[in-house]
Amino acid sequence: MRTDSPKTIYRKDYTPPSYLVETVELGFDLDPACTIVASRVQLRHNPDSKSRDLVLHGEAIELVALRMNGRELNPDQYIIDNNILTIRNAPVNVLLEIETTCVPMENTTLSGLYTSGSGFYTQCEAEGFRRITYFPDRPDVMARYTVMLRADKQQYPVLLSNGNLLEEGDLGDGRHYAKWEDPFKKPSYLFALVAARLVCQEEKYKLKSGREVLLQVWVEEGNLDKTDYAMQSLKNSIRWDEERWGLELDLDRFMIVAVSDFNMGAMENKGLNIFNTKFVLANPRTATDIDYSGIEAVVGHEYFHNWTGNRVTCRDWFQLSLKEGLTVFRDQEFSADMIGTDSGRAVTRIDQVRTLRQAQFPEDAGPMAHPVRPDSFVEINNFYTVTVYEKGAEVVRMYQTLLGREGFRKGMDLYFERHDGQAVQCDDFRAAMADANERDLKQFERWYSQAGTPVVSVSGHHDGARQVYELTLRQSCPATPGQRDKKPFHIPVAVGLLGSDGKDLPLTLGGKALGTTAVLELTAAEQTFRFEGVAHAPVPSILRDFSAPVVLEYPYSDEELLHLFRYDSDPVNRWEAGQRLAMQRLLSLAQAVLDNKPLQLDDTYVAALRAVLTDKELDAAFREQCLILPSETIIAEQMEVVHPQAIHSARQFMRHAIGTALRAELLQVYGDNATPGPYSPDAISAGKRGLKNVALAYLLVQPNTEAVKLAGEQFAAASNMTDRAAALSSLIHSGADAGKQLDAFYTDFKGEALVVDKWFAMQGSAPHTNVAKVRELMKHPAFTLKNPNRARSLLFSFCNNNPSQFHAADGSAYEFWAEHVIKLDALNPQVAARLARSMDRWRRYAPALQIHMRHALEKVAAATPLSNDVMEVVSKALSN
Ligand code: TRP
Ligand code: ZN
Repeated sequence: MRTDSPKTIYRKDYTPPSYLVETVELGFDLDPACTIVASRVQLRHNPDSKSRDLVLHGEAIELVALRMNGRELNPDQYIIDNNILTIRNAPVNVLLEIETTCVPMENTTLSGLYTSGSGFYTQCEAEGFRRITYFPDRPDVMARYTVMLRADKQQYPVLLSNGNLLEEGDLGDGRHYAKWEDPFKKPSYLFALVAARLVCQEEKYKLKSGREVLLQVWVEEGNLDKTDYAMQSLKNSIRWDEERWGLELDLDRFMIVAVSDFNMGAMENKGLNIFNTKFVLANPRTATDIDYSGIEAVVGHEYFHNWTGNRVTCRDWFQLSLKEGLTVFRDQEFSADMIGTDSGRAVTRIDQVRTLRQAQFPEDAGPMAHPVRPDSFVEINNFYTVTVYEKGAEVVRMYQTLLGREGFRKGMDLYFERHDGQAVQCDDFRAAMADANERDLKQFERWYSQAGTPVVSVSGHHDGARQVYELTLRQSCPATPGQRDKKPFHIPVAVGLLGSDGKDLPLTLGGKALGTTAVLELTAAEQTFRFEGVAHAPVPSILRDFSAPVVLEYPYSDEELLHLFRYDSDPVNRWEAGQRLAMQRLLSLAQAVLDNKPLQLDDTYVAALRAVLTDKELDAAFREQCLILPSETIIAEQMEVVHPQAIHSARQFMRHAIGTALRAELLQVYGDNATPGPYSPDAISAGKRGLKNVALAYLLVQPNTEAVKLAGEQFAAASNMTDRAAALSSLIHSGADAGKQLDAFYTDFKGEALVVDKWFAMQGSAPHTNVAKVRELMKHPAFTLKNPNRARSLLFSFCNNNPSQFHAADGSAYEFWAEHVIKLDALNPQVAARLARSMDRWRRYAPALQIHMRHALEKVAAATPLSNDVMEVVSKALSN
């Protein structure tokens, strides 16, 4: 909570730590009401620092005793101010012995040491370790840790920490102990402990080198029937990191622990990954295909951090994307490789593009816009963003596009060769890529320093006489907070040219044959590329595989888009052509709604969609992607002034028109894509279910007897959660009476917290759910604000995924938002600040809505007390 006005921290103010830590010995006497932490820290003055002031961070803890080099320090021998403890003019070698206490059961922030259910868990990234003990809690201080855990044996039979178990035993008096040692030095944010009543699935696994490691997935009793997929994903991750990058697991033991109260997805603590249950627990009865793929991605992500994040870590938190962007890129490649086929890869890529447009582009155009490597922050927790993660991954992907797979691998090898065991910067990664390939990547730095989504405008010109096709590319980047003028980026633009037969033309540039896809390097504000030997005007396929995180402008005609949608050999751009066709129609429909004009959908578009829907040569998963229209959020980003109800009406009209016109084909596809037999989450089966269920949703845009019956039957007969949840969701979203099914679903799954989350989320995002209904749902006995998953399931799904109701004309939902940001803030500022972001784009809405939105934002800004987390978000939203 705020003690004084929030302080902005700047990247340019970085100074090296005055003291480095050699070893840390931690002793925990675990008690929910008062845990005693004893710390022995061996420090040494850092020759790179001029200061002799020993600086320790500490927050929400009680200092009981402090000894330096064997002598008790009196309160006049140190200063505690603003959560910083300073010992002036300390000696070169310092042994600190610190005793502190904390109250885990009252720690609702879920940062530091807290209780969840009947166990103890920690979360130290980014600055949670200081909530456990006084320590130089910054990632460039790396140390070796030994940990002694003591707790009641009955209540906390399992005691875990990082690294290897040295010994364990009884203490008498009903308590027991376990001593752990982590052989690798690490920053404090990777420390973890767990003390709880848990059970595990475990397995010995043989590495390529022949060494055997012990793998464990720890869960609460009763959940051992849901750990197989996490274990399988962990083994796949270990194998993949060896095969693709030559990176081996460096520990003899690797543990995953699932906890139901968790702020984010998961945490890569060394050897002891702690996970939100959502990304561990799955069986066919409770988890959907999307849940399964989430588990694979997050298990991979945290495992891959062991090298990209843990062995090589960040010098300071401004470098967060060094580990996160790189590790997201790695988990994306892992998921794609696990599918294995080109079209499967493309579907994962389409998903990534969707996420960028749905969340990252809006962030980059709003009040919280920041570079991939931010220059300042008030609260670092607010910078675990789609920009740092997903745009950061795009930046890493661009190196691979520019340098080729082999060149990129050489860069990775050099990065580890140079920096293993170090805390480094984004620039060091770029230098490794440049040096390993003898390339100049100086201009590429702007991807790290300039915020905003670049716009690439392209025009084409065909010269029949000279058989030359010219593409002229211009780039610009809108202003973002604190950055008015942008310099040109180094942008890889992958291009192909389609002939009138739909086939790729062979490409020649400057006499050089380049195959059928050329990566153009756009580095200037404007550049022209001349393709030779082009007899007839082609249709350009630009930004293939989404080769850069930019907005592409090209004056495509409908005919050209239909051509690409039918023929493009690049599946991502083929999908993209369909999205462009849809977007043009959605925008004119929304305008027609506003102008009170009749709505119509043209047959040409419907015919194009029909062709894809019924093309059995195409993977089901790809056809599903092509059928999904741009979301209401993505449409809103295209409008000068946003009218959420008009967007909703336009999109619903279009979906209904498609559902009606393609009824027969949709029914056929529905029948053809059943997946009888035992459930398997593999990409082919999941793709069939995805296509089948999107067909069902089209048939049920509005309640009609036939489709309601179909959905009802699917719901009743479903043998897996994917089909069951899809049927229920279609029913609710159509506005059909689904009371019976909702009750049955709740009754069947009330013991499964993650399924109850789905039950709330489905209702929160249904277009008929208004704010009054949400308030009613909040009174349900299963609802609580204290559990982040549950809070997200209802509140976030309403505020972020139900735009036509969230933006109700009377502003009542904004009031609701303000009230709950404030309520949540008192419990958990990190989660509250995420909810606060729902209002980021408020200035783009119709003026009548803006008045209500400003009011709600001001209400939150004026609340006391208010965390720095929420304060930063709402004050940036309100500032000009
Ligand atoms: N490093 C984690 C990841 O990306 C993110 C994370 C987990 C986190 N818990 C957090 C970040 C709490 C901030 C606060 O895998
Ligand atoms: Zn991560």
